Parts: sequence; C-alpha cells; structure tokens
Amino acid sequence: MKKFYVTTPIYYVNDVPHLGHAYTTIAADVLARYHRLNGHPAFFLTGTDEHGQKAEQAAKKSGIPMQEYVDKYAVVFKELWKKLNSTNDDFIRTTEERHKAAVQRALQMLHEKGEIYADSYEGWYCVPCERFWMEKDLKEGNCPDCGRKVEQIKEKNYFFRMGSYQQRLKDHINANAGFILPQSRRNEVLGFLEKPLGDLCISRPKARLSWGIELPFDKDYVTYVWFDALMNYVSATGWPDERFNKAWPASVHLIGKDILTTHAVYWSTMLMALGLDLPKTIFAHGWWTVEGKKMSKSLGNVVEPGKAADVVGVDQFRYFLMREVPFGLDGDFSVDALISRVNVDLANNLGNLVSRALKMVEKYCDSTVPSRPADIDAHWITLNGDAIARYAESIERLEFSRALEEMIRLCDTVNRFIVESEPWALAKEPAKKGKLDNVLYACAESARLIGKMLEPFMPQAAERLKKQLGLVEFGAPEWGGLKGGEKITAGEALFPRMDEKKIAEIKAALAPAVPRKEETALITFDEFMKVDLRTGIVVSAEPVPKSKKLLKLQVDLGTETRQVVAGIAEHYTPEAVVGKQVLVVANLKPAKLMGVESHGMLLAAGDGGKLVLAGTWEPVKGGLKVK
Ligand code: MSP
Repeated sequence: MKKFYVTTPIYYVNDVPHLGHAYTTIAADVLARYHRLNGHPAFFLTGTDEHGQKAEQAAKKSGIPMQEYVDKYAVVFKELWKKLNSTNDDFIRTTEERHKAAVQRALQMLHEKGEIYADSYEGWYCVPCERFWMEKDLKEGNCPDCGRKVEQIKEKNYFFRMGSYQQRLKDHINANAGFILPQSRRNEVLGFLEKPLGDLCISRPKARLSWGIELPFDKDYVTYVWFDALMNYVSATGWPDERFNKAWPASVHLIGKDILTTHAVYWSTMLMALGLDLPKTIFAHGWWTVEGKKMSKSLGNVVEPGKAADVVGVDQFRYFLMREVPFGLDGDFSVDALISRVNVDLANNLGNLVSRALKMVEKYCDSTVPSRPADIDAHWITLNGDAIARYAESIERLEFSRALEEMIRLCDTVNRFIVESEPWALAKEPAKKGKLDNVLYACAESARLIGKMLEPFMPQAAERLKKQLGLVEFGAPEWGGLKGGEKITAGEALFPRMDEKKIAEIKAALAPAVPRKEETALITFDEFMKVDLRTGIVVSAEPVPKSKKLLKLQVDLGTETRQVVAGIAEHYTPEAVVGKQVLVVANLKPAKLMGVESHGMLLAAGDGGKLVLAGTWEPVKGGLKVK
C-alpha cells in the first residue's frame, strides 16, 4: 500500500511562527493522524525554508552569523510543533546537506537536458518577495503581491523553460478535478494559464545574494528561492534514491492561498521537466485575520500559537482552528470566538455528555459498562453509522469543520437522549434495571464513537477519554465496539468550562502588543509645520485609464487649481467627489502615478477597509492653511 503523504509549506525563518503556520501544520497533522488511525501508513512532512534574502537580512539585523541564526529559528518551529502535538515524521531544513544535494542534482539534470538556460534579464524586482515582475503586472508601479516598491534590475541569470509546459499543465488540471482544490482555486489557476506562461528565472548572482544553494554549473550563482524551497517535498523523501518511490507522489500539499501559483504552476512544471509524477492534490486554504484586521507586526496583533495553546489548551486551540472556518475560506480569529467555541461545543456539549454518561455508569452500574443489549435499537446503528460516514467523508475532502460539526451534532443527539430517557428516574425502579442498562450502554458506546471522532483533532482529550472508558484503543468506528464489562473511571472533565477569571486571563495573554516605540515616534511642532496642509474644493474628477484605484482630480486651492491623483476610486465615484471639501498636502514632491502627474495628496481615514475623505466641519474656501 502506498503511503499517504502530506506536506505543509516549509516556513520562512525570518520571524517567529504565527497562527497561519500553526493552521497548516495542525491540518496536516489531523490528516496524518486520521490516516494512521485507519491503518494507512502516513508520512507527514514539514520544515523550514532557510535560504534567501529575507533570512539573510533578518540575520544581519540581529547580528547573528547566518547558520546560527537559521539553526535558532528551526528549533523554535520544531519546539512549537512538539507543543501542538504535531506528529510530523520528518522536518526538512533547506540548509541540510540532503536537501542541497537533491537541489543541485535536479539543477544539473535540467541544465544537461537544456531545460535550464542562461539569458540576460531585465525586469522589475521586488526585494521582499524575491521575485521579478513584468511591467504589465505591476500595480501602480508597485509589486502586485505585497504592494511595495520594485527596483529595475538587469543581469545575467538562468531560466527554467516553464513556458513550454503550459499546455501539458492545463491538460493535467482539466483531466484531474481533484488536482487543485478548492474548486475556486482551480479556476484561478486555469485563468492564470490563459495568459502566456513565461520561463522562470531560477538564479541569483552571488554578488547580490550569497545565502543560497550554488548552481552546480555556475559557481557565481545560487538558486532562486522557489527552486530551492519546492524541492523539499522530494529531497526529504530521498529523491533520487529508491526510497523516494515509496512515498511519491505526495497525496496532498497543503498550502496557503498566497503560494498557489508557485505550487500549482512552478512546482508542477518542474516535476514534469524532471520526469516525476505530480502530487495528487494541492489544497490552498484561506488566510486568517485577527479581530477583523490583517495580522501584522506593526499592528502588534500577531497571534503566537504557542501562547494561545498555553492559555486555552492545545486541544482546544487545535479544535478552534479546525472548526471555526471551512477549510479553504478566509477566517477571523477572535478571542471571543475562541472562548465561545470552547465553552459551547467542548465544555457544555461534548465534555458534559461524556462526564454525565460516565458518572451515571459509575453510580448506577458499579463503574462497569453494562453488557451490549441483544436487541440494539436499529435507530442507534443508523444514527451513528451515518454520523461517522459523513465525518469520514468530510475528512477525506478536507472539510475539517464539517467533520467536527458531525461530531458535535452527535453529542447534541445523545445529550437529548439522556434528558428524554431520564436514567436517574429509571434507577429508582429496580424493575427498570434492564432499560437503564440499555440507556447507559448507548451513552457509553456513543462516548466511544465520539472519542474515535475527536482522536485526530484532539489527541490529548482522546487519550484521556480512552482511559476513562477502560480502553486501550477506541476500536472500530461501528456501533457495538464496547463489549460490556469495561471498567469506567469518570475522573476530571475533559474540557473544563472557562469562567470569567479564565476568560480575563486569556484576553490579557492574547491582547495585541503595544506598538513599538519607533512606530509611535513623536514629532515636534516644527516638524508638523513643515507639512503644508490646505483646504481644497474638488472641481472635477475622472478615472485614470487602466487603474482600478486612481482618480485624477482638479482641486481648487484658492490661488491655483492643482492636479492631484488620489487612490480613492474604489471608494468614491468621480461624481461623488466633485464639489467636496477636502484637505490637501500641498507641498508634497510631485510624482507620476500610472503616468499621470500628481501635485499633492488628499487626506483620508481608513484601516484597510473603507476609505473616508477628510474635510472641514463647515464649508470654507479653498487654500486655507490647516494647522
Ligand atoms: N517559505 C514559503 C513556502 C515555501 S513551500 C515550498 C513561505 N513561507 S511563509 O512562512 O511565509 O508562509 C508559510 C505559510 O503560511 C503559507 O502557506 C502562507 O499562506 C501561510 N500564512 C501566512 N499568513 C497567514 C495567515 N494570516 N493565515 C493563514 N495562513 C497564512 O511562504
């Protein structure tokens, strides 16, 4: 039997791990555990992406030698995965010899085959994203991915003939519905492939970047970040040795939506050129915001997974991430949502069910599971069978939140059953002992099946529940696994309810950090007065051709009419701004935006969502000094 092989992206080591990293690793862990529990051998790979400019810059900034720096961060990631109970079978680091050797081998092979060639390259380069862009792809002159400034660079480089695989890749995607998931992402990639696919620049001159893997055929160059990083999926499994064939192709590459093209297009074509099979599935999940805002260091709202797990519990944290948002969509992390999931689903529902069921077995049945009733109600068999089937089907489709919903729904049903059958009343009538036993068997057996379902998601709670039920393994996912006679120990609640004190503790621990000093740096009055702020009245407005964001405005500044280009087209129509009173930075150096000159800037308020223009409370003429 082929191994089930699941991967996460390898994470950059230029910063501490955040919520997004933990999300993918936990999802991969759930899959790996699920498959192992079902008797399929599984191999789960994660690791760190340690080369490139970002790592180099971060190490320089911290004054630590390169290798020492990346060693330190690799440990931070490894420790976090341990804490979050990740069962990754391997942890690949791109600075390891086994990885470097595989990358160089692949480069050599492709160079010999003519799949890699040298050419001169001139283009717009984004330093943070470490990639070149075509002029047509730039957004208002900036990097279309991160929005930052790009630099014009011309140099000799090496290229991979990616473009020659365009049709083959399209055919593969069209023939394999499950290759790129979710469906919307598949359409996105097919859309991307409608435009001509160029070749891929895969090298960087050492003069500019030394922290990388040297090209085996040109000592003056190192590989460009993606060629290095993507190879981890095969280098970790021993490629090109025989061992590799036991694991490859990967069953699923889990990635975030931002690295879809690199995986679906770059990686797939690289594999084609190397003559290797493509992964079965590439699944791109969504991104988390935090309390409605983009997670960022400058906002101080980066959720550190280790901290969150410490304060709410590892299982609870894992549950929240897998339950809160359908895998594939974007989601929002908030402390209130986290607390509510834990209290409502885990403490009140699941935990309460298990503890009631076990306590009653303790009390009314001498801590021993009653024997399995001969005439098991067919209703129970169907009910549980259906829930488990839907749960399994959901996991196979990577619909983790739906799988957990099934589990919680089953808890609801059994909780209702307890209320309706009133075991405490049955216990008062010796004649109803048989009925009582049947009810309690149903409760205990349901707890076992629920344990089975929570096992891949919440391994610690599952272990405890197993012990409480007197089991070594949960056994088969079918009704009737408990034989009767198992010794129960009710013990502590699986998920204690979080009270006000605990909630306050969680809120304090996960509160956004106060922005660092330099971000709130104070300025003097004189410094402020250097900005020539003026009132203005918009006389006319029109869209800037080919730009989604820009409007070209003529603004009356009293003594003159100024042309100002403003990035407000997504928030205001030209008609809506004509006649508006605005505030203008009048002494800003002129700039060209999408080829149109701008002689000033409008003030507006916004937090990344809706932008609102600033003006005066009462109408005033244009050109007044604002101070
Ligand atoms: N090193 C590359 C991946 C190379 S894989 C061959 C990389 N590293 S990363 O550390 O920047 O990002 C790793 C993953 O974190 C990506 O899948 C990215 O989508 C994910 N996330 C980063 N921020 C995220 C959120 N706010 N929410 C969810 N996932 C996010 O890219």
